[in-house]
Amino acid sequence: MTKSLDESLSFFKDKVTDCIRSKKSIFVTTHIDCDGLTSGSIITKALIRAGANCTVRTSKEFSKNVVDSFKTDSRDFHIVTDLGGGFGKDLNETLGDNWIVLDHHQIPDEEIENPNVINAWKYGIDGGLEICAGGMAYLASMALDEKNSDLSSIAVVSALGDRQDQGERKSFTGKNFEIANTAKEQGLVEIDLDLLLVGRETRPLPDALAFTSQPFIEGLTWNRDACLSLLNSSGIQLKDEGRWRVPAELDEEEKRQVIESITKFTAGKNATEIMSELIGYTYTFPREDKRSFLRDGREFSTMLNSCGRINRSGVGMAICMGDRNKILREGETILTDYRKMIREYMNILSNERWRISESETCVMVNGEDIVPETMTGTISSLIAGSPKNSGKIVILRTKGEENTIKFSSRKSFGCKSDINLSDLMRAGAEKFDGIGGGHDAAAGAKITKDKLDEFLNYLEVNVVNVSSADSPQ
Ligand code: C5P
Ligand code: C5P
Repeated sequence: MTKSLDESLSFFKDKVTDCIRSKKSIFVTTHIDCDGLTSGSIITKALIRAGANCTVRTSKEFSKNVVDSFKTDSRDFHIVTDLGGGFGKDLNETLGDNWIVLDHHQIPDEEIENPNVINAWKYGIDGGLEICAGGMAYLASMALDEKNSDLSSIAVVSALGDRQDQGERKSFTGKNFEIANTAKEQGLVEIDLDLLLVGRETRPLPDALAFTSQPFIEGLTWNRDACLSLLNSSGIQLKDEGRWRVPAELDEEEKRQVIESITKFTAGKNATEIMSELIGYTYTFPREDKRSFLRDGREFSTMLNSCGRINRSGVGMAICMGDRNKILREGETILTDYRKMIREYMNILSNERWRISESETCVMVNGEDIVPETMTGTISSLIAGSPKNSGKIVILRTKGEENTIKFSSRKSFGCKSDINLSDLMRAGAEKFDGIGGGHDAAAGAKITKDKLDEFLNYLEVNVVNVSSADSPQ
């Protein structure tokens, strides 16, 4: 019988307690994105606090090779976070009972009964919206010791990184809501309704407005000059002692002036929709310095994503674990480089039109030789965020290591398709000996290059030419 969430968490606690008591070493393997780095750090920190002998590493993906690497590994017990869905049987064969997966990705039915898989969906929790791996790791850390409740703030970052703030005005729902409230009650996070400009704590006001693409404001988004002139005409002070002010420094009256100017600028066109997207909940960590990229939860999550995506996971992990010295400067540089790279890739993709093919329901983008494998998810999310793609499914592909092709798919805002991208990618990849999975609205796959044409045909039949489909054929 399937265990309840509480039973699974106490199963986890027993396993860890046994490792500590019998001096077994624990190896944590986690994903490289924000949710991976946060979940890995939460569980590692909780294990260290509990006195466990543990090490942690990141992995771009989970595959048979990763499971095989466990065979020769000297560590006694393995905890996998934000990865591992669909590999329960292989893990059992390789490690017996000496492993736990803490995750939120959709899993195949045969894993539901497996007690070592501690996955949100098993307990009726929506792993795409109500909790992510960071939240699952947080619940596990609380099962070890309630003193770990301070790790709730890192779990808030994980949910923002996975874009689970999909409730009204960018609020959280379900477990995420509970976790954010725990962090709030402890004075670790402030939750306010505010202007949702990107780079709240670090970007000069005109840049912040120009780089905000959700909502996309025709004439302002990606147009810094227009933003500067709008802000100048709004009458607010843009600099303070020669230094640009940032969005977090605006007072209520100044925010009102900015909103008024934007409304005027849009001349009533979509003004209500724009405003409803531009105002939402912000998550501020008051213990971080003002103007630090760690003070705003969404900027924090972008920084973590950037660390993983440019192969600097260790820096992100150190920051999540509390390191605040030299490492901060490194995090800042990584974030700047990452933003520059994104701009570069987006420019090339929009200039080389032959890379993009569109149908009524889908946009297929060939990012081969441009987008590095680790950035496919970031770039496909951005393409899906562009208003001209709204309502559609976006599928980006690029070259992976060792003659592979990596696919990243997203449902854009307003996409009503019945296709579950996780099922689509998993079933397609399995058909052509690859691996795939994810969530309803965001999923990926990897296949070998020789199967590319067949996989593209599969997508053609199941997405491109489908207006509203059932399960993949
Ligand atoms: O592996 P994982 O679950 O952590 O990654 C989910 C990815 O999908 C994240 O990069 C997140 O930003 C993205 N996503 C998205 N749009 C959504 C939900 C998730 O781009 N609506
Ligand atoms: O790589 P990308 O960001 O597009 O991945 C979207 C989601 O699909 C993530 O949650 C990722 O963990 C998942 N995924 C997966 N198996 C793959 C590729 C991606 O479960 N082979």
